[in-house]
Amino acid sequence: IKKIPQDKWIDSSLALIFDGYDFISKRCKRYQSNIFQTRLMLEKTICFKGEEAAKIFYDKTKFTRKNAAPDRVKKTLFGEKGIQGMDGDAHLHRKQMFMSLMSKERIQEVGTLTQKQWHNYAKKWERMDTIVLFEEAREVLCRVACTWAGVPLEESEVKLRSQQFEAMIAGSGVVGPKHWQGRKARKENEQWIETIIEKVRNHQLEVPEISATYIFANHRDLSGELLDKRVAAVELINVLRPIVAIDRYITFGALALHEHPECRPKLLESEDYLRAFVEEIRRFYPFFPFASARVRQDFDWQGYHFPEGTRVLLDLYGTNRDPQSWDKHDVFYPERFLNFSELDSFKFIPQGGGDYHTNHRCPGEWITIELLKVTMTFLIQSINYNVPKQDLRINHLKMPTVPASGFVIKNVNLC
Ligand code: HEM
Repeated sequence: IKKIPQDKWIDSSLALIFDGYDFISKRCKRYQSNIFQTRLMLEKTICFKGEEAAKIFYDKTKFTRKNAAPDRVKKTLFGEKGIQGMDGDAHLHRKQMFMSLMSKERIQEVGTLTQKQWHNYAKKWERMDTIVLFEEAREVLCRVACTWAGVPLEESEVKLRSQQFEAMIAGSGVVGPKHWQGRKARKENEQWIETIIEKVRNHQLEVPEISATYIFANHRDLSGELLDKRVAAVELINVLRPIVAIDRYITFGALALHEHPECRPKLLESEDYLRAFVEEIRRFYPFFPFASARVRQDFDWQGYHFPEGTRVLLDLYGTNRDPQSWDKHDVFYPERFLNFSELDSFKFIPQGGGDYHTNHRCPGEWITIELLKVTMTFLIQSINYNVPKQDLRINHLKMPTVPASGFVIKNVNLC
């Protein structure tokens, strides 16, 4: 048995705040190893990265998600008693509920809704001086998410609800006031959605039978019971909130178009190139930093011992940029995806890895890809705009992050 390299500090929680997305990669470099052990929030934690680490991380016989997510993430980003912390048959059954939303037709529909919203917003932008794309995308996606999922959204609520989703996302990786705003936003948002679930259950509100709202309100768990209304709300928010979170990838996509104008004509010529460009956005830019799990029972891997119950963090961002897996790992180069079967690869895991149905891999990956394709096409084909001088730096200490200016555009005209 080999000794796992140990981080030298008694507790590295502060270092995590100071190193952000680079916390695991930096230490892997320091210890010349893809794995090391540290203490986070006073708890022994094994961190690892790379394709082989991802393969073992998604072996369900080795790891469980029970009690794996930190409390601060549950109170903001995930919610309590949702799918992320489930295990075994109960997880499979709950996952099926999410996967039933992801038919080809339903994904096309969410794409069409997004296209329409962009056009509505572009008409408004023509009369505006400056537009912060990140903020506009948040509202566009909030409207899209609610319409697609069957959640009624009053015009007067759009700003409030979009801000609540953003606060839940932004509050998960920070300490201080922003974190508490995230907790408050989750509480209020859960109350809102819970009322909607109740209204659907007692027929005060009719929603389409194919919608997430209808399906989740009527879903029965393995014992045949309806979900507790709070849990149904947490799960419905697990559809709405991450659709809104695509605003970050959209902002990064606009930045990529700005910094790589040579890609523009290729994007219009070829559907394959468009897909490759979108995949490179998901590989290159930092979003979901790490996934966490616990060792289900003692096992050995590559000569290292993993004791039962230990918390483990897989570096998603570091794996997507691992020089051992990727040529020109720190260069934005969409061509790499022209001949790549990414969906069963463990080296490309921006939204997790493994099997969608049986594992914790993100069920929203196709929606994310579709909305990015629609949005990139819109930015190139449907509007002209200028990009004024601004601070486009990406702060790696903020998790999740976005370019500092939020990507400002000016002089927008519909083509
Ligand atoms: C899980 C990323 C969009 C719904 C995950 C995971 C990641 C992720 C990293 C965890 C994988 C793991 O634990 O192994 C992202 C990113 C997105 C995105 C970066 C882009 C904005 C979406 C969308 C939806 C969605 C659009 C739904 C419409 C979920 C759900 C889970 C999940 C329900 C939990 C799955 C489970 O535990 O079985 N996502 N996601 N995500 N995602 Fe996404």
